Amino acid sequence: MKEYFDIVSEIITDDRFKELKKDTHHNTNKYDHLLRVSKLSYKLAKVTKSDVKSTTTAGLLHDFFYGGRKECQANSYLNHPYTSAKNAKEIFNISEFESDIIKTHMFHHTLFRTVVPFINKSEKVKLKDGKPKSKEAWIVCLSDLFVSAYEGLRFNIGGKFAVYLLFAYNMITLR
Ligand SMILES: [Fe+2]
Ligand SMILES: [Fe+2]
Repeated sequence: MKEYFDIVSEIITDDRFKELKKDTHHNTNKYDHLLRVSKLSYKLAKVTKSDVKSTTTAGLLHDFFYGGRKECQANSYLNHPYTSAKNAKEIFNISEFESDIIKTHMFHHTLFRTVVPFINKSEKVKLKDGKPKSKEAWIVCLSDLFVSAYEGLRFNIGGKFAVYLLFAYNMITLR
């Protein structure tokens, strides 16, 4: 995992990123969630011969916003990808490609909102804008979905399915 830590070390040691330890997210904290997603994104990028640095960096910064998603409009389910991309650009000077990966990481929610439009009517949904535009963006989107399910089950329900997810997550991310 040396290559992984070479990519993320500058960000994860920065105080502005470490601030995220204070934010509760999927029953854990945002800092731990982001590390999990970036580790899984890194592994999947290696396996699929994708852009490893960009996938890992975008995975690490995909939820780089402060506070809860219900706290303000900029943090909402559909807006926080844009807020995170803006913060990541300002603070860590990420590339446009990495920024685009972050902006589409909530595609599953965009899709859900399109199918069930009466939920959260105040938020405008555009399926075309929310769709991942690269292999790397699909990796981060799916890694976030998988890790979120794992965290939700691990910290909430427990049981057999959580054990399977925990096993799969560890097999993929640990060596
Ligand atoms: Fe997110
Ligand atoms: Fe996330």
